[in-house]
Amino acid sequence: MIKVGVVGYGYWGPRLVRNFHSLDNCEVAVICDRSADSLRRAKQAYPHVQVTTDLKEVLASTEIDAVAVVTPVWTHYELAKAALENGKHVFVEKPFTSSAAQAKELIDLADRKHLQIMVDHTFLFTGAVRKIRQLINDGSMGSLYYYDSTRVNLGLFQHDVNVIWDLAPHDLSIMDHLIDAKPQFVTATGQSHLNGLEDLAYITVYFENQVMAHINVNWLSPVKVRTTLLGGEKKMLVWNDLEADEKVKVYDKGVSIANGEGVYNLLVSYRSGDMWSPKLDQTEALSTEANYFISCIEQSETPFNDGAAGLRVVKLLEAAEQSLKARGKAVPV
Ligand SMILES: NC(=O)c1ccc[n+]([C@@H]2O[C@H](COP(=O)([O-])OP(=O)(O)OC[C@H]3O[C@@H](n4cnc5c(N)ncnc54)[C@H](O)[C@@H]3O)[C@@H](O)[C@H]2O)c1
Repeated sequence: MIKVGVVGYGYWGPRLVRNFHSLDNCEVAVICDRSADSLRRAKQAYPHVQVTTDLKEVLASTEIDAVAVVTPVWTHYELAKAALENGKHVFVEKPFTSSAAQAKELIDLADRKHLQIMVDHTFLFTGAVRKIRQLINDGSMGSLYYYDSTRVNLGLFQHDVNVIWDLAPHDLSIMDHLIDAKPQFVTATGQSHLNGLEDLAYITVYFENQVMAHINVNWLSPVKVRTTLLGGEKKMLVWNDLEADEKVKVYDKGVSIANGEGVYNLLVSYRSGDMWSPKLDQTEALSTEANYFISCIEQSETPFNDGAAGLRVVKLLEAAEQSLKARGKAVPV
């Protein structure tokens, strides 16, 4: 039985507690939050779980094997570091840390202590992303051309990070997982209108082999959109995460060019075949991920969404932030 302490019981923390709590081989031993209100909610939902405002009770407990850090981004480094120093495996919310330097330090610390770090890149555990990864792996998509994502909504405004650090980690972690080519440059533009933090941004990532990604993140959209296009040489797909059924639609569409004589005689042919919607695993992503975390600890296995994956995302976020401040200058990754 792996015993977990969860730090942070605001919006996301309860979802994590519910999923850890539902596993047979995991026990949520303690929930820690600074806010008495949050702890009242926790006690109501889980009367038998210990609650505390004192982080030391989590860190000093010899019973606890792992700590989940579900607090605001700027606290991740400090809390994860304290947990690792006290010999606990850590599950850290996205984005892993506020800087690449912090991420590297935590990775080194975990290595020295033989502890696991898992970064909550939740979308990698959805049926949609797992199916898309499979379609790329088995060659159905052909070489990838682009990833194009729109992730917009009215809010939720964050107080500590801009829209890039809030919403783009989802797409950057999905791209990191799906695109085998290495990112080379990032450009980003954006604007803040209300609280000094950018509330909309457009990020472009240039990869090797002419693969390109574009992400539109926005807290000022009148409607919620969660749509991603993936273009491949053999197939193209649309993933609409808001669809109840048929979230992913794969199109047998494409373009091929035959060389005629000279540039004006290029023969462009368009292929427009069938569309199909693959069946997706409906299991809640966080449940699959929580299960995987516990199994990685039990088996001493390094998760694929480890500290190194978290660091790759933070490096892209830093590059995007730097480009944003320079009004879209290309920043090498
Ligand atoms: N994976 C996802 O899809 C997803 C979704 C939402 C949020 N998140 C991430 O989860 C984290 C938390 O976000 P949220 O929306 O739940 O925030 P929130 O503000 O609703 O909750 C944070 C909680 O942490 C508590 N807290 C803050 N500092 C603390 C400390 N030092 N010790 C103990 N408790 C402390 C606060 O009192 C609050 O209850 C963020 O990193 C966010 O990026 C991830």
